[in-house]
Amino acid sequence: MSKPVILTGLRANNDLHIGNYLGALLPMVDMAREKGGEYQVNLFIPDLHSFTTPIDHDKLQAGIMQNLRVFAAAGLPLDNPDVHIYRQSYVPAHSELTWILDCFTGLGEMSRMTQFKDKSGSLGDDRISLGLFNYPVLMAADIVLYGATHVPVGDDQKQHVEFARDIVQVFNNMAADEILKMPEPVIQKSGARIKSLRDGLKKMSKSDASDYSRINLNDDNDLIALKIKKAKTDPNAITGDIKSLENRPELENLIILHALLENKSTQDVLSSFDGQNFSNLKLSLTDLLIDHVSPIREKVNTLLNDQAYLNSCLKDGADRANIVAQQTMQQVRTSLNLLQI
Ligand code: ADP
Ligand code: TRP
Repeated sequence: MSKPVILTGLRANNDLHIGNYLGALLPMVDMAREKGGEYQVNLFIPDLHSFTTPIDHDKLQAGIMQNLRVFAAAGLPLDNPDVHIYRQSYVPAHSELTWILDCFTGLGEMSRMTQFKDKSGSLGDDRISLGLFNYPVLMAADIVLYGATHVPVGDDQKQHVEFARDIVQVFNNMAADEILKMPEPVIQKSGARIKSLRDGLKKMSKSDASDYSRINLNDDNDLIALKIKKAKTDPNAITGDIKSLENRPELENLIILHALLENKSTQDVLSSFDGQNFSNLKLSLTDLLIDHVSPIREKVNTLLNDQAYLNSCLKDGADRANIVAQQTMQQVRTSLNLLQI
């Protein structure tokens, strides 16, 4: 029997940040290590998703190689036969299946995607592409091509995985067969939505104009300290009452980050700063962030000369991904009567 597949994609549009790490990358690394052998792990770079919003295409290749280094530096065993790393555009079946699934997708359902509303809101009408509107279908294809059952994502992507579930049902009903496997979103209880350091109501994001809104995994120690020092706070002292966090989004974000990095409960961390001011919390959080980020940054630097090895991982990953993707496509084509000569 084939192993259950855990799958996620991380775009290479900009440097990965601590939100990407805690929400999506670390759960994958943990599952690959702890459950190694039990699951197949697919971590891919969705490069076709990268230009759903405007990007500098000259920087894409460098961003992809950098992401690969971060995956390895974060502890993903690239040479494990159960770990598949690939670039989406090297597997043409993603695009082919997207067109097919498009034809099973209702306009109404697509129009309800909140990420489209959020992302298109910041672009002028002329810059909103059909690709941005359509990308949940490409994401569904990314998932179902490999029969993924577990999809670790941050909170913002949950609706898209639920959409993939709907499409699986519609397609399987049409085919009167279980051609596509049903995926399940894997959302962290805490850390699924790390907030911006400049605004506790906004998600920390690669696309935020301010670099001070996020801690990137390649920030040096001084920059980490400066970003945390400048992080938005409120004028009141910290109390140990968890209810007080409800109206203090910036404090809540710093406490959650602290708790996740220290592997403690939010309440424990909050109690340990009871009656103190923000500066102690910020100093302590800076130390924790440096403890986590600096080994990744340093490991990434040691991998800078491993270009040939990383290219061979991408080639090997694409070869393996194409085989599985073609098996799924054969079943899809047969169920649609797209018969081959
Ligand atoms: P961004 O939104 O920063 O551009 P991506 O869209 O490439 O990042 O997201 C990659 C993965 O990281 C997705 O699973 C996404 O849900 C997760 N993610 C992104 N931002 C956060 C965040 N602030 N907190 C937790 N997870 C996040
Ligand atoms: N759309 C996701 C994002 O913007 C990235 C992604 C693409 C993805 N395809 C995926 C995540 C498939 C999980 C599964 O973050």
